[in-house]
Parts: sequence; C-alpha cells; structure tokens
Amino acid sequence: MRSFSFASVLSYSTSSFQVLHLLLVASLLFRPTHQSSDLGTTSKGDFIDQICRKTPFYDLCMATLHSNPLTPKPDLKGAALVMVNNLLANASDTLNYIEGLIKQTSDQQLEQALAFCAESYIPIVKYILPQAADAVSQGRFGFASYCVSDAAKEISNCDKKFSGSGQNKSLLEDRNGILQKLVGVAAAIMKLLLKG
Ligand SMILES: *[C@@H]1O[C@H](CO)[C@@H](O)[C@H](O)[C@H]1NC(C)=O
Ligand SMILES: *[C@@H]1O[C@H](CO)[C@@H](O)[C@H](O)[C@H]1NC(C)=O
Repeated sequence: MRSFSFASVLSYSTSSFQVLHLLLVASLLFRPTHQSSDLGTTSKGDFIDQICRKTPFYDLCMATLHSNPLTPKPDLKGAALVMVNNLLANASDTLNYIEGLIKQTSDQQLEQALAFCAESYIPIVKYILPQAADAVSQGRFGFASYCVSDAAKEISNCDKKFSGSGQNKSLLEDRNGILQKLVGVAAAIMKLLLKG
C-alpha cells in the first residue's frame, strides 16, 4: 500500500514536473503573443472610451461595455452585440417583473395597463431584440438599427400607458428609463457601424 502511494506520488511529481517544463517552454514560445495581448487589453479600454464618447449616455455605455467581454473581438460590432444582448437581458427581466406585478394586483385598471406593457415587452424579448442580435452578427446593421428603434417605440408605448396615472407611474418608470437609455447607446453604436 505504502509503496503504491509512493509510486503514485513519484509519478505525480514527475508529471507535474513535466507540466512545469511544458509551461516554461510555452511561456518562452508565446512570449511575443503575451505582450501583444497585454497591449490589446490597454487599447480595448481606450477603444471603449472612444465609442462611449459618441453615445448619448457615456457612463451607462462604459459600465455596460466594461462588464461584458467584447466578442468575437473588441470592435464596433462586438460593442453593438454586447449592447443588444444587455438590452435583451434587461427587457426580459422587466417582462418578468411586469408579469409578477400582474399576478399581485387586484386593481383592474392597473392590471390592464400592466397587461398592455406585457404585450409591448413580449415581442421585444421574443422577436425584436433576438432579430437585432442576429442582424448585428450578420453585418446587417441597417436592419439591426430598425429593430432597435422598433423596441424603443414599444417601450415608449408602455411608458405612455402609465404617464399621468399618479402612483402607478413610478412602477415601470425606472426600468423603462434605463431601457430607453440602453436603446440610445445601441442606436448610436449602430449609426457608427452604418457610417463605417
Ligand atoms: C440592465 O442594464 C444595466 C446597465 O447596463 C445593468 O447594470 C443591469 O445589470 C442590467 N440588468 C439586467 C437584468 O440585465
Ligand atoms: C393606479 O393605482 C391605484 C391604486 O393602486 C388604482 O386605484 C388606480 O386604478 C391605478 N390607475 C391606473 C391607471 O392603473
């Protein structure tokens, strides 16, 4: 038993030595690549800053692009895709929130207004934004831009339903507001894509 474990320790240390050796060789081989990817990280920050300056909501743009990886690479298209996917996550979170409120309320008028908003958000979540993401991936920026403005229209329809209804106005105000700002950022990035 003891010799067995000694052998396995030995083979373990041999293999970890081999791994170390491999790592050493690899780090020597790939040194230039390492340096250039470090450079890439720095310029990614600059790149995001440059993009966000061209959008109407700099801080929101910076926060969103910095907290998500820009895939497939840090370019305008990657930034547009991050914005659309973040919009989609936000919109589907809001739809869940609306559906939760519908279940809770016993006020018929409020329920109707919420149902109206759910009907605005369902197409956004199910069709409009997924189509926008596909369009960005395929380089069809005109169509992506159209989808995003369509989403904006739906959100403002929902928002209008609550404006002037006193207390209830604040129910979705913040969420609709953030979504419209995200739309503004996404639309600005798509404008840059269309130009370039
Ligand atoms: C909505 O967007 C904001 C701003 O980018 C972000 O901080 C938040 O996490 C998003 N919410 C969801 C549910 O994705
Ligand atoms: C707003 O909320 C109040 C109290 O919950 C309710 O009585 C009223 O009908 C609501 N109005 C609308 C338009 O949803």
